[in-house]
Amino acid sequence: MTSFTITSGQPLKGTITVPGDKSITHRALILSALAEGMSTLVSYCRGGDCLNTIQALRMLGVRIDEAPNQLIVHGKGFWGLAEPDKPLDCGNSGTGIRLLAGLLAGQDFFTVLTGDESIRRRPMGRVVKPLREMGAVIAGRKGGELAPLAISGKRLHGIEYSSPVASAQVKSSLLLAALFAEGTTKFKEPRLSRDHTERMFQFLGIPLSKDGNALAVQGRPAVGWSGNHVVVPGDFSAAAFFIVGATIVPGSDITLRNVGLNPTRTGLVDVLRTMGAEIQILHQREEAGELVGDLRVRSAPLKGVAISPALIPQTIDEFPVLCVAAAVAEGITQISGAEELRVKESDRIAAMSTELRAMGVQIVEKPDGMIIEGSGKGGENGRLETAGMAQSHGDHRVAMSLAIGALTSKGSIPIADAGCIETSFPNFKAVLSGLLTHHPRGL
Ligand code: S3P
Repeated sequence: MTSFTITSGQPLKGTITVPGDKSITHRALILSALAEGMSTLVSYCRGGDCLNTIQALRMLGVRIDEAPNQLIVHGKGFWGLAEPDKPLDCGNSGTGIRLLAGLLAGQDFFTVLTGDESIRRRPMGRVVKPLREMGAVIAGRKGGELAPLAISGKRLHGIEYSSPVASAQVKSSLLLAALFAEGTTKFKEPRLSRDHTERMFQFLGIPLSKDGNALAVQGRPAVGWSGNHVVVPGDFSAAAFFIVGATIVPGSDITLRNVGLNPTRTGLVDVLRTMGAEIQILHQREEAGELVGDLRVRSAPLKGVAISPALIPQTIDEFPVLCVAAAVAEGITQISGAEELRVKESDRIAAMSTELRAMGVQIVEKPDGMIIEGSGKGGENGRLETAGMAQSHGDHRVAMSLAIGALTSKGSIPIADAGCIETSFPNFKAVLSGLLTHHPRGL
């Protein structure tokens, strides 16, 4: 799938499931690889990012059997990983490369981590610096700021680290390194980022103490943990595209089943509800230490909103699609304190501003956010102009957000370079067309 065209005119209707959560799949894979015995991961994410982490773990000596809806990970035990004989390619995945850097810093072998063009542009210093403080020996381009990273495994020691960014990738990288370090590692972040690693530690019985945003891990646990059965919740960040789509396309009414509703991820629901969206949460329950539920979303007129910096971490991956909601809402939406958007798979502030401007939207770009003037009027959502080709900027979430925006266009919009959608949601196009033709498909 390199490009595809979205034609407007149909509401979204029906019931779907979305792919398993990408963040949770990464964590479940890594921690199952270190477990004693076999783990089953059901409804895992089959996007390219997770497939690259599976491949990396295989190269570290872990046997992983793949079936369409289930992975079987044959855990190697705590010190059971082995030196790979070539570089590990993390593809497009920031989570993959940063978590593996933490995992590998304290092993007694050498590894090289690399990835695609986007990964080789993204900041690695945020994990390399604290890992070096723990005693890690890591070389990389620009003094370790950029991948490829060459890691000479070393005996690590615990540190106290206060992260300047609220980043679950930094936090998780350090928590994994902390497991292999001597003594205690203490970690703090300015705001609580997604807490899947902490929850997975607790679910598997790995000791971790937690006091607000402060965490402590005692390294080299006396006893390891056993393999487990993990049912991965649907990815809220994949559901987000349809939550916005059903909200902004008149006449829509959809249900999304088994969606992860971890409160450190669901900022989009809060923001959209403030804008006027009709989102109902049904059948809440717990799966593998994570909150899960069904969502019913019906179309509703939206109003612009000021998104406070306090809401950024739990909404971080949803800004591209939130920009689309803001573009058709009535009034002004202001996003600030979101400079992290500039170092994602693309510079998402620049990418969404460029693409939405081409679709007739007035946007002021700021270093840490944007001001979007919505085209809605008289209590109705607006529509985007039909432009030429929309560009994904090589970013899966930009591509899917533009496809959702195109549903409100005055005609058809082709989305170019859409192959990147495979990194998180290989079946996106089929699921969307099922909702539009009212023959919904799950995964
Ligand atoms: C992720 C953390 C977030 C998020 C990314 C996945 C994770 O990144 O944007 O898509 O799985 O830990 P940061 O930690 O850089 O904020």
